Formats: sequence, C-alpha cells, structure tokens
Amino acid sequence: MCGIVGYVGARDAADVLMDGLSRLEYRGYDSAGIAVFENGQVRVAKSKGRLADLEEKMKQEGKPAGHSGIGHTRWATHGEPSDRNSHPHAGGSVTIVHNGIIENYKKLKEFLLSKGKTFLSDTDTEVVAQLLGYYYELTPGNPVDAIIRTMKELEGSYALGVMFADFPDMVYALRKESPLIVGIGEGESFIASDVTAILQYTRNYYLLEPGEIAVLTKAEAKVYDIHYQKIEKELKTADWDVSAAEKGGYPHFMIKEIHEQPVSIKTTITPRITDGMPDLSECGITTESLNSFKAIHVVACGTAMHAGIVGKYVIEKLAKVPVNVDIASEFRYRDPLVGEGDLVIIISQSGETADSLAALRLAKSLGAKTLAIVNAKGSSIAREADMLIYTHAGPEIAVASTKAYMVQIAVMYLFAFELALAKGKIDEAECRRLTSLLEETPAQIEKILAHHEMTQKIADSLITADSLLYIGRGLDYALSMEGSLKLKEISYIHSESYAAGELKHGTISLITENMPVIAVATQTALFDKTISNIKEVKARGAKVILISRDDYTPDQDVADFQFCLPQFEDLLMPMLAVVPLQLIAYYTAVHKGTDVDKPRNLAKSVTVE
Ligand code: AGP
Repeated sequence: MCGIVGYVGARDAADVLMDGLSRLEYRGYDSAGIAVFENGQVRVAKSKGRLADLEEKMKQEGKPAGHSGIGHTRWATHGEPSDRNSHPHAGGSVTIVHNGIIENYKKLKEFLLSKGKTFLSDTDTEVVAQLLGYYYELTPGNPVDAIIRTMKELEGSYALGVMFADFPDMVYALRKESPLIVGIGEGESFIASDVTAILQYTRNYYLLEPGEIAVLTKAEAKVYDIHYQKIEKELKTADWDVSAAEKGGYPHFMIKEIHEQPVSIKTTITPRITDGMPDLSECGITTESLNSFKAIHVVACGTAMHAGIVGKYVIEKLAKVPVNVDIASEFRYRDPLVGEGDLVIIISQSGETADSLAALRLAKSLGAKTLAIVNAKGSSIAREADMLIYTHAGPEIAVASTKAYMVQIAVMYLFAFELALAKGKIDEAECRRLTSLLEETPAQIEKILAHHEMTQKIADSLITADSLLYIGRGLDYALSMEGSLKLKEISYIHSESYAAGELKHGTISLITENMPVIAVATQTALFDKTISNIKEVKARGAKVILISRDDYTPDQDVADFQFCLPQFEDLLMPMLAVVPLQLIAYYTAVHKGTDVDKPRNLAKSVTVE
C-alpha cells in the first residue's frame, strides 16, 4: 500500500522519481506526487489520480528541476483521495513521503496543535511531517536527531522518505514494518519500497531493517541505528533485471504474467528436486521434522489463501494429515488452537501483507513452527519465519495474482509429496512418479496457452452478465474459488464459487435464464456427479461454460461452451485448469474496458489490516 522512492545523484530527479513510481504504481494509485530540490528550494508537484494525471499537471505547470528528491504513489487510508491529501507533506522545513499507518496520529496531532501547528490535510502522514519539523526546530542543523526523536514517538507502520530544506543534496529514510530498500549506484543513491523501482539504474541495494535510518548523498548511503551508531550493511544484488518488471510487448502485465507461468514453475521447483525426488532440505524441512508436526495450519489472504486450500486437498489426500486453512485476518483474532508441535504455513506473494505477518507472529508466540512460502526476497514474512521456501515467480506487477498463485500451489505439491513419503503414505516410486508429473506441468500449460482462443469467446459471452457462479467438486471446487476472485476483482462482475453439490441447498434459486455458470469438472471420481449438478442448473436456464478434459464430449444439453484441457493426472489438474479461468477473467476485463492491471479500490501489497 503506497509506494515511495527517493533519489540523490546527477540525473534529472523528477524523471528518476516518475520512472520509479511508474513501477510502484501497483502499490496504490489514488494520487501521486514528487518533491525535488530546485535551486536549493523544495518544489512539490502532486495530483489526485494516477501518475498520468501528475504527468499532465507537470506538463502544464512545469516539472520541478533538480538532482535530488522524493516521490509517492498513494493508496488512501486517512483522508479521501484528493490533491490536498496527496503526498509529499510538509512540516516546517521538512518534507516527507510515507507508506504505512501511524496509529497514534490523533494523540500526536493534539500535541502539535497545542504547540500552534496547523494542518492542511486529513492524513496521518502530515502529523509525522509536523513532528519532524517540530523536533528539527528544537535541534536545527541536526536532521538525524529530529528523526530519532520522532521515531521514538511513532506507533504503527512506516517507511518514510524525508528531505530537510537545509540539506539540499541529501535524502533521509527510515522504516518500521513497511518495506524499504536503499539502492547503491555509481555516484547516485536511491530509496524505494521495492527493488523493481530502481532496477533500471542499479541492482545493488541494502535492505533497511526496522528501526534503521539511512542518510543518502550521491557519493554514498550510510545507515544508522536509533542510537546514531553506524551499521555496516550487507550489499545485496537483485537477481531480477529490468525486463522482468516491464511488459515485454504484452498489452498488460497480467497477460504477460499468465504466459510466464511455465517458466516460473520450472525456476521454483527445479532447485527443490534432487534425483527425481522432492528435496526441501535447503529450507530446513527434513523427514524428521515432517514427522514431528502434530497439526498443520495454512494461513494467508486472498489468492494466497486459495493456494492454501488447494494445498489442503492435496496434503490430506496424499499424506492423510489434517490441514486447517485460515484467512489471516480471522486467524489472528479468534484465539486459534495452535501451539507447540504445530506447523503454521504462511503463504504470501509480497511477504508484507499485514494480516499474514501478524498471523505469523501470533503463531510463533504460541510456540508453533512457522514455514513461509514467499515470493518477495527479504520481505518481512520471509525474514521472520522459522523456515522459508522462496517461490521464484519474479516480480508480479499486475494487482490480480496469477503466476504467484501457480508457484504457490507448485510448492504445496512438493511439500505434500515429501510429507506423504515421510509419513509412509506413498512409497518412493509413487513420490518419484508424482514429482516427474509436476515437472511436466509447464509443458502442459504451454499447450493450453498456445490454444486458448475459446477463452476469448467465453469472455465475450460474459461481458453483459451481472453475476455468475463457479461450481466444482473437490479440487475443482478449491480451484474455482480462485477463478471467481480473478473475475470479480478485474471485471467487476459479481461471482461466487460454490461446491457443486451444495447448490441445491439454497443457491440454485439464483439461477435464471442465461445466468452464466462456469463449471470445472476435471476429477475422474467426481465427474459424473458434477455433470449431474451441471444438468440441474442447465435445466433451470443457466448458460453453462464447462472446463473439462479433452476426452469428454458432453451431451448437447450440458454445456454452451466447453474449454478442453489436456488429459493429465487428476491430482495435478488444478495447475492446468486455473489457466483458462485466469484467461477468461483477463479477456472479460479487457472486453469490458476496465483497468486490468490496476483494478479500482485495490492495491497489490496490503500492508494495512
Ligand atoms: C488477488 O489477485 C490479490 N492480489 C490478493 O488477493 C492477494 O493474493 C492477497 O492480498 C494476499 O497478498 P500476498 O500474497 O502478497 O500476501
């Protein structure tokens, strides 16, 4: 939620900041703004709306010219999206951008009002700017002292980029909870919420830890702790290059990321397979540890939680171990029955989701072992978990998650195979067979991507729908939850996923003439039963879109459209069947003309509760 950038160097700061923000816009797009030192003075340009609106404004009013500055793209929390509430915010001679939420801002605001300060916005951020300004007035000429005093007062989460008018060629940064990296280039330094914002200039960076303060000049970046002691940081190198964060000829990031799925699976599973067998030892998972867990819980949000549900079905089927799947925001407040001897798996693309991070901390405090399945390197969840499996999907920019889901379920399969073997529920030959089938999934997905025209026809038939249902049984039901979320978040068409056998207990009354029902039927053992449920909705007027295997030719009265998947192992069908569901959602949104990569009201990284 919210993206921040900062720059000190020889380039045109406004260009670097705008370029960085364009790569962070997925984090929020309610408003955007930059502040640049222009001839020793801070000049701000900001605007409600997208980055494009700010660009337009700067075309008319002139772009701040200088070589150092800070920038922000906003997902509104305190105060409506407006020019007034857009960042940067100022307090005296201090100008800041902020990602996060200041929980005690009301108390701090009262204090500042009592000191005669006045406020121009409704934001919690302006309170931080004013507090910094207040402390700086007490110790003029000593920015770090003002920062340390301010940090001691702030409660909540923050990553801040700060400029002091008295220090024109410097940018300061600090963080607690919200992510921030410090980029190190040749004669230039950067800050950013995410390394993708600076890849065009450098791949070298420091991860700023909570409680650390960075002081940037064009020559270097120094990092201090809250006692103003210098910290020697390990310089990291991003393994993504700039093309990974660009559209590469595709019209949207989402479709690019759908097409990247075969490669993402390979890069994620290959290092975790040794001699044809799953091998998660590098992540601290051994036969011994797998046998010691009393219970398994999976906790996550949104798409990542849906990946957990597929994992539950697979683990329970193969390893015969019960798995609880929880929504992180529920888990953290319902006194979960979790304790010593339990394994809690946290799944997260960003590794920064506030509820998932809080769930991880809760699980640890209750004595459970935690395993994080995370895509973003060095993120908070990755760093705090006891054990870690990185998914190697590369940067996922589209707000609607696709390739991250795919690799999350790929990891859940590997985990399930290894657990089932450790528990003696499958033998080595079966484990090897399943692992080699998992290795075949990228080739199967390539086939689907090469012949996906039918998904466009299906999408055409959906654009006038107000509401639709996804149905399936078993793994198909688990999967259809993700299909339904994809469609609603980007096309704004209401949809729900339902266990096919549950429809007649109430929901079937929603079916009217031509209401679309997307039925997923890939599981051999449940196939006839799902087809019976499909016939029940068809008989009541539904327009049925069937996702099944190419060895099934439906009777005429079953489906209006059919998307055929290659024949493959039932257990692994979710990895194939999700692809047409992603494509249907994508093309429906494209045909409706919505903003596919940046759907309304959403942000990629949800760092607030
Ligand atoms: C769905 O497309 C979303 N991007 C969303 O549901 C997401 O999966 C959820 O917010 C969790 O994010 P995380 O994986 O970064 O923790």
